[in-house]
Amino acid sequence: MDTPPLEPPTHPDAEELSATALRLMARGAADRRAAFHTPTLSTIGLDGRPRARTVVLRGIDVAGRVIRLHSDLRSAKIAELRRDARAALVFYDAGAKLQVRAEGTATVHAGDEVTREAWGRSQPMARAIYAGDPPGMPLAGPGPDEPTADDGEANFAVIRCVFDRLDVLSLQAAGHRRLLLRWEGGERTAQWLAP
Ligand SMILES: Cc1cc2nc3c(=O)[nH]c(=O)nc-3n(C[C@H](O)[C@H](O)[C@H](O)COP(=O)(O)O)c2cc1C
Repeated sequence: MDTPPLEPPTHPDAEELSATALRLMARGAADRRAAFHTPTLSTIGLDGRPRARTVVLRGIDVAGRVIRLHSDLRSAKIAELRRDARAALVFYDAGAKLQVRAEGTATVHAGDEVTREAWGRSQPMARAIYAGDPPGMPLAGPGPDEPTADDGEANFAVIRCVFDRLDVLSLQAAGHRRLLLRWEGGERTAQWLAP
């Protein structure tokens, strides 16, 4: 069976463009070399300023519209999401010339079954990250040369973000295309927008 292409066809219809976007997101979770593997997560800062940072796309449930990320419970983004759960993620694949902006609501998991399961599947190197000083803590120097060997499970958090909007922009010589997908009350609508 042929593998579906990861680039949108020229002049895609709404179904083709949304399918391409969702395929790239699924691939981003499965393939660490994929451009969509490291999106930018935006939150609203505690002071009301926008905050953005790179994260690793750990998993996606396309049917459930759930994006899964891992983070340190002590990091600023966690406090921000606990105060205001609205989040946006931006993905860009230069090969496919496709940008996806996902907007939704995030839930922070800590010390529960979701976290334990994800921790159980994570590698020792990834685990060591959570054993260090709290992210953002001022240091007297650059920091330790070796990662600490302690167990950081208590600092490990899983962020589950359910998206209800995908703004898909496909750059094409034949004319850029922009499609807004929205989910409301279980219904999905698709609207073309001027790029
Ligand atoms: C390639 C790359 C991947 C990253 N992945 C993650 C990640 O999955 N989770 C995370 O919390 N931080 C990740 N970071 C670090 C964040 O970008 C950020 O610096 C850190 O989480 C502190 O952000 P905050 O203070 O806004 O919470 C990554 C950074 C890079 C450059």
